[in-house]
Amino acid sequence: MNLPFAEAYKIKSVEAIYRSNREEREAWIKEANFNLFNLKSKYVFIDLLTDSGTGSMSQNQWAALMQGDESYAGASSYYNLKEAVKDIFGFDYFLPTHQGRAAENVLFSALVKENDVVPGNSHFDTTKGHIEFRKAIATDCTINEAFDTEAEHPFKGNLDLNKLEEVYKTTEKGKIPFTVVTITNNSSGGQPVSVQNMRDVYELSHNYDIPVLYDSARFAENAYFIKLREKEFENHSIKEIVAEMYKYADMMTMSSKKDGIVNMGGLIGLKNEEVFKQASVFNIMFEGFITYGGMSGRDMNALAVGLQEVMEFDYLETRVKQVEYLGNKLIEAGIPIQKPIGGHAIFVNAVKFLPNVPKEQYIAQTLAIELYKEAGIRGVEIGTLLADRDPETRENRYPKLELLRLAIPRRVYTNNHMDVIAAGLINIFERRESYTKGYEIVEEAHILRHFTVKLKEI
Ligand code: F0G
Repeated sequence: MNLPFAEAYKIKSVEAIYRSNREEREAWIKEANFNLFNLKSKYVFIDLLTDSGTGSMSQNQWAALMQGDESYAGASSYYNLKEAVKDIFGFDYFLPTHQGRAAENVLFSALVKENDVVPGNSHFDTTKGHIEFRKAIATDCTINEAFDTEAEHPFKGNLDLNKLEEVYKTTEKGKIPFTVVTITNNSSGGQPVSVQNMRDVYELSHNYDIPVLYDSARFAENAYFIKLREKEFENHSIKEIVAEMYKYADMMTMSSKKDGIVNMGGLIGLKNEEVFKQASVFNIMFEGFITYGGMSGRDMNALAVGLQEVMEFDYLETRVKQVEYLGNKLIEAGIPIQKPIGGHAIFVNAVKFLPNVPKEQYIAQTLAIELYKEAGIRGVEIGTLLADRDPETRENRYPKLELLRLAIPRRVYTNNHMDVIAAGLINIFERRESYTKGYEIVEEAHILRHFTVKLKEI
C-alpha cells in the first residue's frame, strides 16, 4: 500500500476552539447584523476569513522572537531582516513597515501622482485603494481566463501582454509610475503568475521605461506552482525559482502576514537608491524610523526566519495540498469553485451555487451566512458588497465574479477541519434550490462598506 500524504510538521502548542450549535449561531449572526466581520472570534469554530496574520509560527520563529533587539535605531533584528531580503529577493534597499498596505502607502506616496495610471493583474483592494486615493487609475490587465471559474489555465494570475501594451501606448508618457504584478493573484483566486509572464512583462515595461513592482504577499506559493507547472523549473529549488522571479522586478511591496508566516509585518524592497531615499522620508513620517518601520525587533526577527522557512518544499507541499484536499472534495460533490485550485484559498462561485437568490440580495454573502449557521465556519464575501457602489451614480457595482472565499490559515487546521468545511458546504449545496431570498442593507459606510455593513433578512 502507498503511504498516504501527511503534514511535514507536528503540533507543539494548541488553542481550544468551541464547537457551537446551530441555535447559538443563528442568534449570534443576527446580533452581528449578518456581517461576519462583526462576529466575536470565540463564536467561530473554523475561521477562514483570511490567511493573513493567522498562521502558526514555528519553534524557530518563537526562538528568534526571544532574541529580538528592540533598539530604536540600528537593531540587529533589522539587519537580520535586511539580510534575508537581500538573500531571497536580491534587493539592496529595504524598508520595514507594519503591514502590506503600509508598504503601499509609503511607496505610493513617493511615486503615484494625480491622473497617473497603474496597470496590474487584479490589484488587491488596498493596492487599488492607495492608487485611487491619490486620484490615479488602477487598470486591470489580467488574462480573460481568470474570470471564467471553469477555464483551466496553469497560470490564471498572468497579465495579458496585449492589454498591457495597449495601456502603455494610450497613456501619456511619464504618467505610469510602475506596473503591479501580484503574486499570487489573490483576487482571481490565489492563481500564480509564470516566470515566462514575468519576463515578458519586464521586457515590455522596460521598453517603455516603466518599472515593475511585485505585490509579494504569497511569493512562495507562486514559486511552488512554477515548480509544478513550468517545465523549465521542475528541478529547481523554491529558493532558486524565487531568485529567478525577482530578476524581473524593480521593486516589491509585501504583506508579511501571509508568506512571511508572522502575525504582523510588511516590507518594501528596492533596487533604486533614489526611490529608497524618497520612500524613507514617508516611512519615517507614517511608520517609524527606517530600521523598524512600525515593527518590533522581535517581529522582524521572526519574519527573517519565516521568509526562509516558507520556501521549504515540504512546508509548501503540505500547505498547498491541504487547500487542494478541500478543493477536490468540493469538486467531487459538484460544487462550482475557481479551477485550478489556488494556493491559499478556495473560491466558491456563489451565483452557480445558489441559482435562485437574486443578485440584488447579495448572493455570496447569503452563502457565507448559511455556511456559518450550518457549521460555524467563517468565510468572506468577495462579491457585490465588497465591490461597493459606483462613486458617481451610487448604484451597486456588480463584479464579474460573485465569490465566497475560504482562506486557509498556514499550519493551523488539520484535514479533519477540512472535512467539516466540505461537509458543511455539501449540506447546503444539497438544499440549494430551496434558497430563494438573500439580504438587504440596513446601514452602510460611504467606502469599504463590507467591513461594517448591517444587513437584514428579506
Ligand atoms: N496585497 C495582497 C495581494 C493582499 O492579499 C493583501 C492583504 C495586501 C496586499 C495588503 O496587506 O493586509 O498586510 O495590509 N490581503 C488580506 C486578505 C487582507 O485577506 O487577502 P495587509
